[in-house]
Amino acid sequence: MASLVGVFNVAHSPTCYRPAEEWNQVRASRTLRADVPMDDLDTNRKKKARVQAAFATLRDRLAAARPDALVIFGDDQLECFDFANFPSFAVYVGEAFEGALASGERAKVRGHPELAVALLAGLMRRGFDPAFCMEMPKPERGVGHAFFRPAESLTDLTTPLVPIFLNCYYAPQPTALRCYQLGRAVRESIDAHPGDLRVAVVGSGGLWHTPRAPDAYLDEAFDREILRLMAAGDARGMARFFDGYEVPAGDRSQDVGTRGRGATGMPGPGGPQGGTRETCNWIAAAAVADGKPATIVDYVPVYASPIGAGFAYWPEV
Ligand SMILES: [Fe+2]
Repeated sequence: MASLVGVFNVAHSPTCYRPAEEWNQVRASRTLRADVPMDDLDTNRKKKARVQAAFATLRDRLAAARPDALVIFGDDQLECFDFANFPSFAVYVGEAFEGALASGERAKVRGHPELAVALLAGLMRRGFDPAFCMEMPKPERGVGHAFFRPAESLTDLTTPLVPIFLNCYYAPQPTALRCYQLGRAVRESIDAHPGDLRVAVVGSGGLWHTPRAPDAYLDEAFDREILRLMAAGDARGMARFFDGYEVPAGDRSQDVGTRGRGATGMPGPGGPQGGTRETCNWIAAAAVADGKPATIVDYVPVYASPIGAGFAYWPEV
């Protein structure tokens, strides 16, 4: 039988990959709410060091788990899909795919068709109807950063990857509860797979962030509650909390936007809007390990972006 050997949740924010010396340039290019704390260069350097230490911790943990394949719950930010056809959920079942590293260099990684097909069929059997991709929709671009950042930060790019796409950004998105259920169905499908495979799972992105939105801020209390529930092993509670959140009146940072290149203009399903919905990638991964407490490696409030950069793993799954 396939065995689940590890679950990891990790930030993938572009700011985390830039030198600390550039963080306040990032800040200057954005329109932050006036009460967002201002970190000086020394503080940013210390935060960047924490981000790197957290990546290193997760990388070591993942290496120790010796996975044959890595399933990544990630989102597509119009990198391979577009509004002509945007799936709520999709599974890539092909042999290999390309993507860009944080350096801009291109790399190719292997897929894992056997596991991907087992997960796709397992999801269908359990009442899900994901799209599937036998080829990358835009092979010249490959897959987006939600998949390639964890791949480059946590692996040496030789571990085969199974990308599972969740629509996080573009309203109307699946609810957090649905993403939780997706994670549970993936877990059952892994457990039911007869192949002799060691499988690890990653949730990519989050936590609170609304990149380039007007009046952006960081809701650390929201992130802390998500982390508390995760550390308590309560993935369903994470979903309940997420879906129950109400956008404060007048909060422009969470506007769904008007119909155009980067927004649908359609209403969301409730809960936060913007990049914060990448937390649903975390909730899906947490659901895979539901009932088991997560270890929070670090939570770094990067005010320059601003984003709550979180890092966690499950010592037992
Ligand atoms: Fe992202």
